[in-house]
Amino acid sequence: MAGGASVQPLAWNIRLKIAIGAARGLAFLHTSDKQVIYRDFKASNILLDGSYTAKISDFGLAKLGPSASQSHVTTRVMGTYGYAAPEYVATGHLYVKSDVYGFGVVLVEILTGLRALDTNRPSGQHNLVDWIKPYLSEKRKFRHIIDARLQGQYPYKAAYQIAQLSLKCLEAEPKHRPSMREVVETLERLQASDQKPKQPRVRPTHSMAHRQGQQPLHHRSPLHTNLDRNRGYQHSPRVR
Ligand SMILES: Nc1ncnc2c1ncn2[C@@H]1O[C@H](COP(=O)(O)OP(=O)(O)OP(=O)(O)O)[C@@H](O)[C@H]1O
Ligand SMILES: [Mg+2]
Repeated sequence: MAGGASVQPLAWNIRLKIAIGAARGLAFLHTSDKQVIYRDFKASNILLDGSYTAKISDFGLAKLGPSASQSHVTTRVMGTYGYAAPEYVATGHLYVKSDVYGFGVVLVEILTGLRALDTNRPSGQHNLVDWIKPYLSEKRKFRHIIDARLQGQYPYKAAYQIAQLSLKCLEAEPKHRPSMREVVETLERLQASDQKPKQPRVRPTHSMAHRQGQQPLHHRSPLHTNLDRNRGYQHSPRVR
């Protein structure tokens, strides 16, 4: 999912299609006979074909899931900062639900068009999830963090519900996160309910003003400092 200045921003339906494709991939691994924890889920490991069908790549860090009597496997911490689940980074305890956390991070990237980790952003904003989380849960604030390059062409209600889904995926406690099957079901339901992008109820005055290089008249938010300059994906440093 590379994106640079010369690349057209992806439309909402395509973003949703990619999210669903990647979620199905993780759900498949998690529910296979020999349960597999992928361990390095991130945007750059989602490969796309010409019709944006997602494939998860780079299984180098994948690990067999815990035996039936165990909740997690204990292993050396490897992965990518900005995506790795907090319990795994802190303790080396790897849960199937640790992948769900990484998926939540990618969902936030899809919604905002921002990278999980970007040290070019102002301090306090380097880690996307730490920075954006408080803005996801409130409808009023959520308007300001959705990728302005969508130019309002997204179903507001579904987008907000995806934000709520991402928050569940990002729960600190692994067992409070949904399974990837549940994630797939939620995303598919939202896709079916909103086949056509609609205009949000309130015009995104803020975003439009921002695009024209003007100061927004309303809803000033600290989020939009240097926002466009910082959008797009780049390599994230490894944890190892
Ligand atoms: N088979 C492929 N076809 C097209 N692009 C690919 C392919 N494999 C990797 N890429 C792209 O090349 C870039 C580098 O990938 P690479 O896997 O080397 O690093 P990474 O995904 O950033 O980190 P990691 O080493 O943890 O996977 C990424 O943008 C990735 O999406
Ligand atoms: Mg890769």
